[in-house]
Amino acid sequence: MCGIIGILGADPAAPRLVQALKLLEYRGYDSAGVATLENGAISRRRAAGKLVNLERELAEAPLAGISGIGHTRWATHGAPTTANAHPHATDKVAIVHNGIIENFRALREELIRAGHRFTSETDSEVIAHLITDYLDKGQKPEQAAISAVRRLEGAFGIAVLFAGDEDILVGARKGSPLAVGLGDGEMFLGSDAIAVSPFTQRVMFLEEGDIAVLSRAKVKVLDASGQLAERQVHIFAGGAAAAEKGNHRHFMQKEIYEQPETTGRTITRYVNAYEERVEMPNLDGVDLNSDSAIIIGCGTAHYAGRVAEYWLEQVSGIAVETDIASEFRYRKPAVGKKSFGVFVSQSGETADTLAALRYCKENGLKTLAVVNVPESTIWREADARLPTLAGPEIGVASTKAFTAQLSALAALSIAVGRARGTLSSQEEGRLVHALMETPRLITDALACEPEIEVIAQELAQARDVLYLGRGVHYPIALEGALKLKEISYIHAEGYAAGELKHGPIALIDEHTPVVVVAPHDALFEKTLSNMQEVNARGGKLIVITDGAGAVACADIAKHIIMVPTCDPFIAPLVYSVPIQLLAYLTAVHKGTDVDQPRNLAKSVTVE
Ligand code: G6P
Repeated sequence: MCGIIGILGADPAAPRLVQALKLLEYRGYDSAGVATLENGAISRRRAAGKLVNLERELAEAPLAGISGIGHTRWATHGAPTTANAHPHATDKVAIVHNGIIENFRALREELIRAGHRFTSETDSEVIAHLITDYLDKGQKPEQAAISAVRRLEGAFGIAVLFAGDEDILVGARKGSPLAVGLGDGEMFLGSDAIAVSPFTQRVMFLEEGDIAVLSRAKVKVLDASGQLAERQVHIFAGGAAAAEKGNHRHFMQKEIYEQPETTGRTITRYVNAYEERVEMPNLDGVDLNSDSAIIIGCGTAHYAGRVAEYWLEQVSGIAVETDIASEFRYRKPAVGKKSFGVFVSQSGETADTLAALRYCKENGLKTLAVVNVPESTIWREADARLPTLAGPEIGVASTKAFTAQLSALAALSIAVGRARGTLSSQEEGRLVHALMETPRLITDALACEPEIEVIAQELAQARDVLYLGRGVHYPIALEGALKLKEISYIHAEGYAAGELKHGPIALIDEHTPVVVVAPHDALFEKTLSNMQEVNARGGKLIVITDGAGAVACADIAKHIIMVPTCDPFIAPLVYSVPIQLLAYLTAVHKGTDVDQPRNLAKSVTVE
């Protein structure tokens, strides 16, 4: 996960920037850099690889100055080279950025036509040039930064340093978190509170759409509508450990809110946004031009695989078999020759998934791991790997790892479609474009928390809850039910909506809430009929849908959770957010131990 630090200090900035970057190392990164103002001019040092490389650069060519910004980068657009490392700069500004700029291609072309020269393959560099363009047109630093941020589409956290002005640092937040540290005659910006914890205990968290203009004496916050805003100051007395959760009550909540960033990072690892193509790493003998695939996992990871089953079949026409690892390993399944196995795991250590992988290898299948923890056993034993870049997941109930798994599997589905020739480059471009919109749409979906809060109070009283979904949203319904039972201990079942009549309808009465995952897609009318059946029997419908779906079921739904309208391809990613929030907020109402629910383990290394 990329990390940001910004300092308007009283002491030399470079050593402090590196000190903060060390605290951000835990998020994972593959290059790093810092920029300071030396006599008003921007000077940078950047290095690929670990922070020691940057420290070596700084030892050889130290940076003076008391104002600066720093960044740890986890490569997304462009390889982890020095040229792609942040800060990106012109002679007037330096910027660091987390997230995705969706419209960077259009902006880059516009700026190139206006005479700007780009030196990296990143989407981030466009921010430095855009701000410079507004400065060239005579705008003052604060206004130039605001003008540029208003033109950026996507999800991002940004810090901006201006040449010739020692006392201004601008931060902007949309999707990627950003915190302001208030010091004594000093001011700091950080991608989380840990980054600023060596310098101050007083931290303010920016909200969606905020722009913060920092000087050493004060911080001015403008909200999404450009109005002056007040943000609460939190005190973190326990240093980095206390700061880790930021302003979130639980790790699970923090991890749900990290998803614009974690999906963005994972998606951009596998797509070339400029050419709107998927780019897979070397898959060491795994032939994507295969006839069939087997996808194996446990729990949430299994449900990610079930979503991928629909994607792969629809996009690439490949035959897909998904199974729970504990069943697969003992049923002695026949594994086809022209097939490959995909093993999905957050921890990379789940005993059953590992055993299934070994079974496939022994039977001559090439294996591909979709894993979150680098160098874990499944990571090492698979023939090839697609890392999910969710960063460490602390909450036992998986959230950001799930959407990161979906992100990687969506890219894999497109890659298989291309390898098999079932996808035109135009169609690939459309799907990649849709994928790139995911972090922004997840940011929008997170805004439904207040509506869900009200519903959660009611759901907390329930004894049994049914979740229904069709097509690619059937596994999302399964995951919704799993999340609820894991952390709130309420009995919940996920069903394919079409199965309602074959049993679960007997459970429907006025005490049984029924959560329906129903975007207004090709299957919506079918699901609407199922909702009618529930309504006719007095069941309480909680419908997760978009604008068009909300209109269609307004007269029968007790509650509607509105999600942004999105391309059907990425809808499972966006609809994951409300089902996570619903489980989380219900558990909070019940007062359960959300991060460490009873009897559950984060990593199940025994059978
Ligand atoms: C445990 C966890 C689940 C997780 C499953 C698979 O049951 O509590 O959250 O989905 O294991 O774990 P993995 O690390 O293989 O994804």
